[in-house]
Amino acid sequence: MQNDIGRVLLSEAEIVAKVKELGDKLTEEYRGKELLVVGILKGSNVFMSDLIRQINIPLKIDFMMVSSYGNATESTGVVKIIKDIEQSISGKHLLIVEDIIDSGLTLKYLTEMLETRKPASIKLCTLLDKPARRKENVDVDYVGFEMPDEFLVGYGIDYAEYYRNLPYIGVLKPEVYEK
Ligand code: PRP
Ligand code: MN
Ligand code: MG
Repeated sequence: MQNDIGRVLLSEAEIVAKVKELGDKLTEEYRGKELLVVGILKGSNVFMSDLIRQINIPLKIDFMMVSSYGNATESTGVVKIIKDIEQSISGKHLLIVEDIIDSGLTLKYLTEMLETRKPASIKLCTLLDKPARRKENVDVDYVGFEMPDEFLVGYGIDYAEYYRNLPYIGVLKPEVYEK
């Protein structure tokens, strides 16, 4: 598996430092507020579990799982909810956690849908952002790293469901996906 990685873009240590920095900011932002942290499965799983341990105030967590309709490479922007948040979000401060924002289609749809349930606020936190790929304008409140448009894997991000368990963010060698 390590052999499939062309180069490491973000080391484990760089990620740890960034997660701590984000956690500190979020601790201040949400102090005294009723915080619900919502992870978008499956990619956000690794980042979310590290992030919540750096937020030092009471909070609750929940998860959503979504899938885009249409073919695998180009999202249509219509999102199917496979698993929804299990609690009422009315009056709560929502922090949506993503591993990466690419076209923005997933989050655009999700935030508009969640707004209708009248939370007190919705903010977005993503470890990685690929602004060059954006199709929908989404306001991202907390970004770990802006990344180039390359084939990234690791720390929750998959290719064909593999590589999520790498502790760093790497670029896949072209021969892996060109096979
Ligand atoms: C990836 C990633 C984001 C989304 C970003 O998830 O984890 O959720 O795509 O793409 P977008 O900005 O173009 O909408 P994916 O659909 O691959 O599911 P996964 O998290 O289960 O890997
Ligand atoms: Mn995802
Ligand atoms: Mg994926």
